[in-house]
Amino acid sequence: MKIRNICCIGAGYVGGPTMAVIAQKCPEINVTVVDINKERIAAWNDKNVENIPIYEPGLSDIVAEARDRNLFFSTDVDQAIDKADMIFISVNTPTKTYGIGKGMAADLKFIELCARQIARVAKDDKIVVEKSTLPVRTAQALKNILDNTGNGVNYQILSNPEFLAEGTAVDDLMNPDRVLIGGDIDTAEGEEAIQALVDIYAHWVSKEQILTTNVWSSELSKLTANAFLAQRVSSINAMSELCEKTGADVNEVSRAVGMDSRIGSKFLKSSVGFGGSCFQKDILNLVYIAKSFGLDEVADYWHQVIIMNDHQKKRFAAKIVQTLFNTVSGKKIALLGWAFKKDTNDTRESAAIYVADYLLNEQAEIVVYDPKVTEEQIYADLDYLGTRSEKENRERVTVLKDPYKVCDKAHAIAVLTEWDEFMELDWQKVYKAMLKPAFLFDGRRLLDRKTKEEIGFEFYAIGS
Ligand code: UDX
Ligand code: ADP
Repeated sequence: MKIRNICCIGAGYVGGPTMAVIAQKCPEINVTVVDINKERIAAWNDKNVENIPIYEPGLSDIVAEARDRNLFFSTDVDQAIDKADMIFISVNTPTKTYGIGKGMAADLKFIELCARQIARVAKDDKIVVEKSTLPVRTAQALKNILDNTGNGVNYQILSNPEFLAEGTAVDDLMNPDRVLIGGDIDTAEGEEAIQALVDIYAHWVSKEQILTTNVWSSELSKLTANAFLAQRVSSINAMSELCEKTGADVNEVSRAVGMDSRIGSKFLKSSVGFGGSCFQKDILNLVYIAKSFGLDEVADYWHQVIIMNDHQKKRFAAKIVQTLFNTVSGKKIALLGWAFKKDTNDTRESAAIYVADYLLNEQAEIVVYDPKVTEEQIYADLDYLGTRSEKENRERVTVLKDPYKVCDKAHAIAVLTEWDEFMELDWQKVYKAMLKPAFLFDGRRLLDRKTKEEIGFEFYAIGS
């Protein structure tokens, strides 16, 4: 089976970059990315490719090459579904904010809406690919909806989780560690659908790196991978607190531990806490699934990863208050960085949001600089917490485009995202403009302690 037309529902952080790379690598396939969000689609179609809605190194160039050749962005969801042989579902699956499973389970309403729309529109057989991260056995629900509300056409459901990390999306897509495709391996039709997707990736990924499994293994592998990665960060963050009490240094510990080839060196960087759209959501989802099968010990085990992460954010903010003589009321605290990590404009679940909220509760005056995050986004993130009124957030938080102005007359600086440019700041100049004692809190282990202390900063870094 040769795929000629692909439709991807959802032009977000996953759908956009993934489809751009498929279109670039498979010029004979037409790829149409659709979304109900008109502004988002307009931005993907912006004449100036630097204005596409997602900032990812290298992405603009790929979009420039493929867009309007075989890569299209549109709001006409029905038409794209109708034309496609293969439909990727890449919509958001946030944590439920209501009803059963509130705060834990994944909210599948967007997925279900897609399934119903596909069922209504499709007039010929389709391969439907789950790209969004989903609870294990969602494929069964999709199949039920498609088969029971459809027009009598045949559907094959594949699970093809995306492992790209933000900030390195293009590189991760170009050189993946593996591509995982789950499908109905027990039937010829299922095998054929799997092969159709394998053939797409085989344009640029070696066959040995394309794994095929049953659907449930594929769905569960994605949750497991994210849980393992987040667990490593929580494990090293747990050690960071112990380091601070004992005189050990978390960077030295992580280096020593990571050189054991059985453990490996990646994802052992202590920080103010992990953020991003995936880790917390997926672990909560895993916890919920385990609980729903009565596996309380399994659920508690994974829940601890989140508890540790929340603790790390809180204790970093508390450290600031405590160090500033137990009060930050009316004091100006400069936050460097708001994104959940460097090289992305994404702020979902960023530790910065929670640190800012904690300090605002302590009546601090917050001033923020982030090279990629907009002022509107920062206010939206704080408003979403609902801790105080929108008016108050705007009165007490200022967002500036100049890091030096942000630090001017500040009582303290907190580095919350590891942007490279923070290492290059003229720290002498920053120090001069601050109130004394000038406190500098490094939540990312980004800055060199010695040179900062020589300048005169009172320096605190997580894990030392
Ligand atoms: C993650 C997974 O890596 C990816 O495979 C999956 O598809 C989606 O979720 P992402 O959330 O984009 O990707 O970023 P990632 O690089 O994993 O970082 C997540 C968070 O952990 C960030 O806040 C990062 O700063 C933090 N982190 C990561 C650490 O604090 N220490 C580390 O050593 C690594
Ligand atoms: P992710 O990080 O998983 O890519 P995003 O929130 O960035 O998540 O993107 C998901 C996109 O899916 C959003 O732009 C949203 O508007 C879109 N979306 C959600 N439901 C539908 C739907 N039924 N039809 C089309 N697009 C949808």
